[in-house]
Amino acid sequence: MSVKLTWQDEFAVITLDRPQALNALSASVLRELAQAFDEVAGSNARALIVTGAGVKAFCAGADIKELVGRSLSEQRRDAAYGQAVLARLDELPMPSVAAINGYAFGGGLELALACTFRIAVATAKMGLPEIKLGLIPGYGGTQRLPRVIGEARALDLIMSGRTLDAEEALRIGLVHRVAEGDVLAAAISNARQFNAYGLPALRLARDAVKRALDVPLHEGLKIEADLNTLAFQTQDALEGMNAFMQKRKPKFTDR
Ligand code: CAA
Repeated sequence: MSVKLTWQDEFAVITLDRPQALNALSASVLRELAQAFDEVAGSNARALIVTGAGVKAFCAGADIKELVGRSLSEQRRDAAYGQAVLARLDELPMPSVAAINGYAFGGGLELALACTFRIAVATAKMGLPEIKLGLIPGYGGTQRLPRVIGEARALDLIMSGRTLDAEEALRIGLVHRVAEGDVLAAAISNARQFNAYGLPALRLARDAVKRALDVPLHEGLKIEADLNTLAFQTQDALEGMNAFMQKRKPKFTDR
Protein backbone atom coordinates (compact mmCIF):
# COMPACT_ATOMS: atom_id res chain seq x y z
CA MET A 1 0.00 0.00 0.00
CA SER A 2 1.35 3.41 -0.96
CA VAL A 3 -1.38 5.41 0.73
CA LYS A 4 -1.72 5.23 4.51
CA LEU A 5 -4.76 6.38 6.45
CA THR A 6 -4.03 6.95 10.14
CA TRP A 7 -5.62 8.95 12.94
CA GLN A 8 -4.23 11.65 15.21
CA ASP A 9 -6.82 12.42 17.84
CA GLU A 10 -9.98 13.37 15.95
CA PHE A 11 -8.14 14.02 12.66
CA ALA A 12 -7.63 11.67 9.71
CA VAL A 13 -4.14 11.77 8.18
CA ILE A 14 -3.55 10.47 4.64
CA THR A 15 0.14 9.95 3.85
CA LEU A 16 1.43 9.27 0.35
CA ASP A 17 4.04 6.62 1.09
CA ARG A 18 6.13 6.04 -1.99
CA PRO A 19 9.26 8.04 -1.17
CA GLN A 20 11.47 6.13 -3.65
CA ALA A 21 9.45 7.84 -6.44
CA LEU A 22 8.99 11.11 -4.48
CA ASN A 23 5.40 10.00 -3.73
CA ALA A 24 4.41 10.27 -7.42
CA LEU A 25 0.78 9.53 -8.30
CA SER A 26 0.80 6.19 -10.11
CA ALA A 27 -2.53 4.71 -11.21
CA SER A 28 -2.56 2.46 -8.15
CA VAL A 29 -1.78 5.39 -5.82
CA LEU A 30 -4.75 7.27 -7.32
CA ARG A 31 -7.02 4.27 -6.72
CA GLU A 32 -5.81 3.96 -3.12
CA LEU A 33 -6.34 7.70 -2.62
CA ALA A 34 -9.92 7.40 -3.88
CA GLN A 35 -10.61 4.62 -1.35
CA ALA A 36 -9.01 6.60 1.47
CA PHE A 37 -11.08 9.73 0.64
CA ASP A 38 -14.26 7.63 0.67
CA GLU A 39 -13.31 6.15 4.05
CA VAL A 40 -12.68 9.60 5.49
CA ALA A 41 -15.95 10.93 3.99
CA GLY A 42 -17.88 8.24 5.89
CA SER A 43 -15.96 8.71 9.16
CA ASN A 44 -16.43 11.14 12.02
CA ALA A 45 -13.09 12.89 11.38
CA ARG A 46 -13.17 16.61 12.21
CA ALA A 47 -10.69 17.32 9.40
CA LEU A 48 -8.36 15.53 6.99
CA ILE A 49 -4.63 16.22 6.69
CA VAL A 50 -2.86 15.12 3.48
CA THR A 51 0.93 14.80 3.49
CA GLY A 52 3.87 12.89 1.99
CA ALA A 53 6.24 10.36 3.56
CA GLY A 54 9.87 11.38 4.05
CA VAL A 55 11.44 14.80 4.20
CA LYS A 56 11.98 15.35 0.48
CA ALA A 57 8.60 15.33 -1.23
CA PHE A 58 4.92 15.95 -0.66
CA CYS A 59 4.29 14.59 -4.17
CA ALA A 60 6.25 15.01 -7.44
CA GLY A 61 3.13 14.73 -9.61
CA ALA A 62 1.75 12.12 -11.98
CA ASP A 63 4.02 9.12 -12.44
CA ILE A 64 5.92 10.13 -15.59
CA LYS A 65 7.18 6.57 -16.11
CA GLU A 66 3.55 5.42 -16.53
CA LEU A 67 2.74 8.25 -18.97
CA VAL A 68 5.26 7.17 -21.60
CA GLY A 69 3.68 5.25 -24.49
CA ARG A 70 0.10 5.73 -23.38
CA SER A 71 -2.67 5.88 -26.02
CA LEU A 72 -4.75 9.04 -26.33
CA SER A 73 -7.85 7.31 -24.96
CA GLU A 74 -5.85 6.01 -21.97
CA GLN A 75 -4.56 9.53 -21.34
CA ARG A 76 -8.07 11.03 -21.55
CA ARG A 77 -9.36 8.40 -19.13
CA ASP A 78 -6.48 9.02 -16.71
CA ALA A 79 -7.03 12.80 -16.68
CA ALA A 80 -10.77 12.33 -16.04
CA TYR A 81 -10.06 9.78 -13.29
CA GLY A 82 -7.41 11.94 -11.58
CA GLN A 83 -9.81 14.91 -11.67
CA ALA A 84 -12.62 12.79 -10.23
CA VAL A 85 -10.41 11.52 -7.38
CA LEU A 86 -9.35 15.06 -6.45
CA ALA A 87 -13.00 16.19 -6.69
CA ARG A 88 -13.80 13.69 -3.89
CA LEU A 89 -11.18 15.43 -1.75
CA ASP A 90 -12.50 18.89 -2.66
CA GLU A 91 -16.05 17.89 -1.72
CA LEU A 92 -15.42 16.10 1.60
CA PRO A 93 -17.89 16.99 4.34
CA MET A 94 -15.03 18.16 6.58
CA PRO A 95 -12.18 20.66 5.95
CA SER A 96 -8.89 19.34 4.55
CA VAL A 97 -5.35 20.66 4.98
CA ALA A 98 -2.37 19.86 2.75
CA ALA A 99 0.79 19.61 4.87
CA ILE A 100 3.33 20.29 2.10
CA ASN A 101 6.49 18.72 3.49
CA GLY A 102 8.73 19.12 0.42
CA TYR A 103 8.38 19.10 -3.39
CA ALA A 104 4.81 19.62 -4.63
CA PHE A 105 4.96 19.52 -8.42
CA GLY A 106 2.36 18.89 -11.14
CA GLY A 107 -0.31 16.51 -9.85
CA GLY A 108 1.20 16.94 -6.37
CA LEU A 109 0.41 20.65 -6.32
CA GLU A 110 -2.99 19.83 -7.88
CA LEU A 111 -3.62 17.48 -4.94
CA ALA A 112 -2.77 20.32 -2.53
CA LEU A 113 -5.02 22.71 -4.49
CA ALA A 114 -7.97 20.35 -3.96
CA CYS A 115 -7.51 20.69 -0.18
CA THR A 116 -9.33 23.49 1.65
CA PHE A 117 -6.07 24.81 3.18
CA ARG A 118 -2.35 24.53 2.39
CA ILE A 119 0.53 24.78 4.88
CA ALA A 120 4.10 24.41 3.62
CA VAL A 121 7.39 23.70 5.33
CA ALA A 122 9.80 26.63 4.83
CA THR A 123 11.99 24.57 2.46
CA ALA A 124 9.10 23.39 0.23
CA LYS A 125 9.27 23.90 -3.53
CA MET A 126 6.15 24.04 -5.67
CA GLY A 127 5.13 24.41 -9.29
CA LEU A 128 3.25 23.12 -12.30
CA PRO A 129 6.19 22.05 -14.53
CA GLU A 130 4.14 20.08 -17.10
CA ILE A 131 5.08 22.56 -19.86
CA LYS A 132 8.69 21.32 -19.56
CA LEU A 133 7.43 17.85 -20.54
CA GLY A 134 5.46 19.27 -23.49
CA LEU A 135 2.27 18.80 -21.48
CA ILE A 136 -0.21 20.89 -19.53
CA PRO A 137 -1.69 20.13 -16.08
CA GLY A 138 -4.40 17.46 -16.14
CA TYR A 139 -5.64 16.98 -12.57
CA GLY A 140 -7.36 20.36 -12.20
CA GLY A 141 -4.37 22.75 -12.10
CA THR A 142 -5.50 25.03 -14.94
CA GLN A 143 -8.89 25.44 -13.24
CA ARG A 144 -8.12 25.57 -9.50
CA LEU A 145 -4.87 27.59 -9.64
CA PRO A 146 -6.43 30.75 -11.23
CA ARG A 147 -9.30 30.49 -8.74
CA VAL A 148 -6.76 30.52 -5.89
CA ILE A 149 -4.11 33.03 -7.09
CA GLY A 150 -5.78 34.81 -10.05
CA GLU A 151 -5.44 34.44 -13.81
CA ALA A 152 -2.27 36.51 -14.34
CA ARG A 153 -0.22 34.62 -11.76
CA ALA A 154 -1.62 31.26 -12.85
CA LEU A 155 -0.65 31.95 -16.47
CA ASP A 156 2.84 32.93 -15.32
CA LEU A 157 3.31 29.72 -13.30
CA ILE A 158 1.72 27.32 -15.79
CA MET A 159 3.34 28.79 -18.94
CA SER A 160 6.81 29.17 -17.39
CA GLY A 161 6.73 25.94 -15.38
CA ARG A 162 8.90 27.75 -12.86
CA THR A 163 9.46 26.67 -9.26
CA LEU A 164 8.24 28.73 -6.30
CA ASP A 165 9.66 28.62 -2.82
CA ALA A 166 7.43 28.67 0.25
CA GLU A 167 7.94 32.38 0.84
CA GLU A 168 6.68 33.33 -2.64
CA ALA A 169 3.83 30.81 -2.36
CA LEU A 170 2.73 32.53 0.87
CA ARG A 171 3.05 36.01 -0.66
CA ILE A 172 0.83 35.18 -3.65
CA GLY A 173 -1.73 33.27 -1.55
CA LEU A 174 -0.96 29.81 -2.89
CA VAL A 175 -0.35 28.58 0.66
CA HIS A 176 -2.07 29.89 3.78
CA ARG A 177 0.88 29.51 6.13
CA VAL A 178 4.55 28.55 6.25
CA ALA A 179 5.55 26.25 9.12
CA GLU A 180 8.95 26.81 10.67
CA GLY A 181 9.04 23.39 12.36
CA ASP A 182 6.98 20.23 11.97
CA VAL A 183 4.53 20.86 9.11
CA LEU A 184 2.21 18.00 10.12
CA ALA A 185 1.90 19.43 13.63
CA ALA A 186 1.23 22.87 12.12
CA ALA A 187 -1.50 21.42 9.87
CA ILE A 188 -3.15 19.66 12.81
CA SER A 189 -3.02 22.81 14.88
CA ASN A 190 -4.62 24.68 11.95
CA ALA A 191 -7.37 22.05 11.78
CA ARG A 192 -7.91 22.15 15.54
CA GLN A 193 -9.24 25.72 15.35
CA PHE A 194 -12.36 24.34 13.59
CA ASN A 195 -13.21 22.05 16.52
CA ALA A 196 -15.14 24.89 18.12
CA TYR A 197 -17.59 25.01 15.18
CA GLY A 198 -20.17 22.69 13.64
CA LEU A 199 -19.28 20.78 10.46
CA PRO A 200 -22.49 21.76 8.58
CA ALA A 201 -21.74 25.50 8.91
CA LEU A 202 -18.06 24.97 8.03
CA ARG A 203 -19.05 23.04 4.92
CA LEU A 204 -21.71 25.54 3.83
CA ALA A 205 -19.25 28.43 4.32
CA ARG A 206 -16.61 26.64 2.21
CA ASP A 207 -19.12 25.73 -0.51
CA ALA A 208 -20.48 29.28 -0.74
CA VAL A 209 -16.98 30.77 -1.10
CA LYS A 210 -15.88 28.12 -3.63
CA ARG A 211 -18.92 28.77 -5.82
CA ALA A 212 -18.30 32.53 -5.80
CA LEU A 213 -15.92 32.35 -8.75
CA ASP A 214 -18.09 30.02 -10.83
CA VAL A 215 -21.09 32.31 -11.33
CA PRO A 216 -21.96 36.00 -11.86
CA LEU A 217 -22.40 38.09 -8.67
CA HIS A 218 -26.23 38.08 -8.75
CA GLU A 219 -26.23 34.26 -9.01
CA GLY A 220 -23.62 33.99 -6.27
CA LEU A 221 -25.74 36.13 -3.96
CA LYS A 222 -28.70 33.78 -4.52
CA ILE A 223 -26.45 30.81 -3.66
CA GLU A 224 -25.32 32.62 -0.52
CA ALA A 225 -28.93 33.32 0.52
CA ASP A 226 -29.81 29.63 -0.05
CA LEU A 227 -26.83 28.27 1.89
CA ASN A 228 -27.30 30.86 4.64
CA THR A 229 -30.89 29.61 5.00
CA LEU A 230 -29.70 26.00 5.08
CA ALA A 231 -27.30 26.92 7.90
CA PHE A 232 -30.09 28.78 9.70
CA GLN A 233 -32.29 25.67 9.86
CA THR A 234 -29.64 23.49 11.56
CA GLN A 235 -29.79 22.64 15.25
CA ASP A 236 -26.30 24.11 15.54
CA ALA A 237 -27.64 27.52 14.49
CA LEU A 238 -30.39 27.34 17.10
CA GLU A 239 -27.81 26.34 19.72
CA GLY A 240 -25.33 29.06 18.63
CA MET A 241 -27.91 31.85 18.83
CA ASN A 242 -29.39 30.55 22.12
CA ALA A 243 -25.90 30.31 23.63
CA PHE A 244 -25.25 33.93 22.65
CA MET A 245 -28.49 35.07 24.29
CA GLN A 246 -27.72 33.06 27.44
CA LYS A 247 -24.11 34.33 27.53
CA ARG A 248 -22.57 30.85 27.44
CA LYS A 249 -20.38 28.85 25.04
CA PRO A 250 -22.35 26.93 22.37
CA LYS A 251 -22.28 23.13 22.28
CA PHE A 252 -22.47 22.21 18.59
CA THR A 253 -23.50 18.68 17.58
CA ASP A 254 -23.01 18.80 13.80
CA ARG A 255 -26.74 18.66 13.17
N1 CAA B 1 7.09 10.33 -11.73
C1 CAA B 1 7.81 9.20 -11.59
N2 CAA B 1 8.98 9.14 -10.92
C2 CAA B 1 9.43 10.29 -10.37
C3 CAA B 1 8.74 11.50 -10.48
C4 CAA B 1 7.50 11.49 -11.19
N3 CAA B 1 6.75 12.59 -11.32
N4 CAA B 1 9.46 12.47 -9.86
C5 CAA B 1 10.55 11.87 -9.38
N5 CAA B 1 10.55 10.54 -9.68
C6 CAA B 1 11.54 9.55 -9.35
C7 CAA B 1 12.80 9.72 -10.17
O1 CAA B 1 12.65 9.13 -11.46
C8 CAA B 1 13.81 9.04 -9.29
O2 CAA B 1 13.69 7.64 -9.46
P1 CAA B 1 14.98 6.74 -9.85
O3 CAA B 1 15.86 6.86 -8.64
O4 CAA B 1 14.39 5.38 -10.03
O5 CAA B 1 15.57 7.34 -11.07
C9 CAA B 1 13.35 9.36 -7.89
O6 CAA B 1 11.98 9.71 -8.00
C10 CAA B 1 14.08 10.56 -7.28
O7 CAA B 1 13.94 11.65 -8.16
P2 CAA B 1 15.19 12.53 -8.65
O8 CAA B 1 16.43 11.71 -8.69
O9 CAA B 1 14.79 13.22 -9.93
O10 CAA B 1 15.29 13.57 -7.45
P3 CAA B 1 15.90 15.05 -7.49
O11 CAA B 1 16.00 15.49 -6.08
O12 CAA B 1 17.12 15.08 -8.32
O13 CAA B 1 14.80 15.95 -8.25
C11 CAA B 1 12.57 16.73 -8.70
C12 CAA B 1 13.56 16.15 -7.66
C13 CAA B 1 13.02 18.15 -9.10
C14 CAA B 1 11.20 16.79 -8.06
C15 CAA B 1 12.58 15.81 -9.96
O14 CAA B 1 12.39 14.47 -9.53
C16 CAA B 1 11.48 16.14 -10.94
O15 CAA B 1 11.59 17.11 -11.69
N6 CAA B 1 10.42 15.30 -10.97
C17 CAA B 1 9.33 15.47 -11.93
C18 CAA B 1 8.42 16.61 -11.52
C19 CAA B 1 7.36 16.80 -12.59
O16 CAA B 1 7.64 17.11 -13.74
N7 CAA B 1 6.08 16.64 -12.20
C20 CAA B 1 4.95 16.75 -13.11
C21 CAA B 1 4.55 15.38 -13.60
S1 CAA B 1 3.34 15.45 -14.87
C22 CAA B 1 1.86 15.75 -14.05
O17 CAA B 1 1.81 15.79 -12.84
C23 CAA B 1 0.65 15.92 -14.95
C24 CAA B 1 -0.61 16.24 -14.20
O18 CAA B 1 -1.05 17.36 -14.19
C25 CAA B 1 -1.34 15.22 -13.51
